[in-house]
Amino acid sequence: MPLGRLNHVGVATPSIETSVALYREMLGATKVHEPFDLPAQGVRVCFVDTPNSQIELIEPLGPESPIVTFLEKNPAGGQHHVCFEVPDIHAAKAELEAKGARVLGEPRIGAHGTLVFFVHPKDMGGVLTEIMESPRDGGH
Ligand code: CO
Repeated sequence: MPLGRLNHVGVATPSIETSVALYREMLGATKVHEPFDLPAQGVRVCFVDTPNSQIELIEPLGPESPIVTFLEKNPAGGQHHVCFEVPDIHAAKAELEAKGARVLGEPRIGAHGTLVFFVHPKDMGGVLTEIMESPRDGGH
């Protein structure tokens, strides 16, 4: 499993609108994508581009959202996960599981339209890690 590029850093927030304003005003972000719902992951998503990567702002899509508990512990929001690309999602899952990592569920369609899965933070040095199959067009 060759480790691919850092696709994005996931940041949980109670309000995408507030976070977008923060990234614009504090850090001078200029390229902010249109927010959209991602029901498969239980979140609303908004990407903020940086020259070499993206920040993925995620807001709960409802009370069952997997990030509700995170926001209860971190009411102002916070860094939630990092996402690395791999060329083959199923090969990556098999390899990580063979190494004893707990993969959280089956690969699902992620925010970039390709399959993703998450690795339990206890098996990745405390960092919730998203593994994402690289988009075929090579874009973000
Ligand atoms: Co993500």
